[in-house]
Amino acid sequence: MGKNYKIAVIAGDGIGKEVVPEGQRVVEAAARRFGFSVDWTEFDWNCDYYARHGRMMPEDGVEQVRGADAIFLGAVGWPTVPDHISTWDLILKLRRELGLYVALRPARLLKGIVSPLAGRTAKDIDFVIVRENSEGEYSAAGGLLYEGTSEEMVIQESVFSKRAIDRILRYAFDLARTRRKKVSLATKSNGIKIAMPYWDARFAAIAREYPDVAHDKFHIDILTAHFVVHPDWFDVVVGSNLFGDILSDLGPAVAGSIGIAPSGNIDPSRTNPSMFEPVHGSAPDIAGQGIANPIGQIWAAAMMLEHLGELEAAKAIETAIESVIGGNGPRTRDLGGNAATVEAGKAIAEALA
Ligand code: NAI
Ligand code: MG
Repeated sequence: MGKNYKIAVIAGDGIGKEVVPEGQRVVEAAARRFGFSVDWTEFDWNCDYYARHGRMMPEDGVEQVRGADAIFLGAVGWPTVPDHISTWDLILKLRRELGLYVALRPARLLKGIVSPLAGRTAKDIDFVIVRENSEGEYSAAGGLLYEGTSEEMVIQESVFSKRAIDRILRYAFDLARTRRKKVSLATKSNGIKIAMPYWDARFAAIAREYPDVAHDKFHIDILTAHFVVHPDWFDVVVGSNLFGDILSDLGPAVAGSIGIAPSGNIDPSRTNPSMFEPVHGSAPDIAGQGIANPIGQIWAAAMMLEHLGELEAAKAIETAIESVIGGNGPRTRDLGGNAATVEAGKAIAEALA
């Protein structure tokens, strides 16, 4: 008898409600094939919930999902609620209160997807961005001084702790050991002259714990250029909250459509459930038409199963996605086809069975 997983589902808004069921369909197909089972608990936390209750989730929302094995999120945000409210009150709250200190984003060019980089194929683009997700440049330390005078000024402090830097670096090196054994650090130690030399020093120290893993570092400015010109140089790329944020959008962009990119918010200690979601948002411009690409959500499901230890199932889902879009399977409009969301999801579930 295989394992049973308890998954909290937050479909959210817009196309989140259309692509999440396709992710669930594919997980169910994988469960049948690989002999595990899933209990889904659905939470209706979204902008409609906000309209009824004046908040994005109940006061004890985080406690309601804390006991789950993972959280499967669609997308949150709708024009009726300011984006900073829907994002901070739901997604960021979950990330922070559950200690999901790793933001993980694969940038892999799938067979059948054309990269915006001319001439690049699946063998050239296969790397992972590991972003520090708990501190750094995104802090509330600082303030506005001399407001309303000609001396007006703002101070915005960055906060970097040894504990948070070391744990994200070790995560990156551990991950590299499961891949092609190389870690690249995003730095800016020429310009940001206190914090970034510190990152460089911690990187060198942690690298000594992993003599079997190669490592190099690049300033963030040239690193963005290398992502475009030499994507084949990279395996695992690690950086601070801000640098990781920038790279996390650039990486999936070089690997194709926004509709296919997945992401994970991970608690490596496994004390709390990790959260998996597509990179894209709720796409109000196409919501309600049943034409959204479900692959980002389905790939996020594969990441979730990998995290839960169902490695074969995760691999099989990725293979099924590639067999459908690399063959003659149905493609949604963003990939140049005219298939509906449900058709694309069913084809991947069938390829898996
Ligand atoms: P978006 O990702 O929702 O849409 C950007 C463009 O990509 C749109 O033209 C959309 O039609 C297209 N697109 C996105 N996903 C697609 C898919 N699966 N298939 C086909 N086309 C797809 O980003 P946008 O417009 O900036 O944000 C819309 C809302 O989503 C906002 O409220 C925003 O706050 C929220 N959002 C939520 C995120 C989350 O839940 N983590 C992440 C990003 C945005
Ligand atoms: Mg971002």
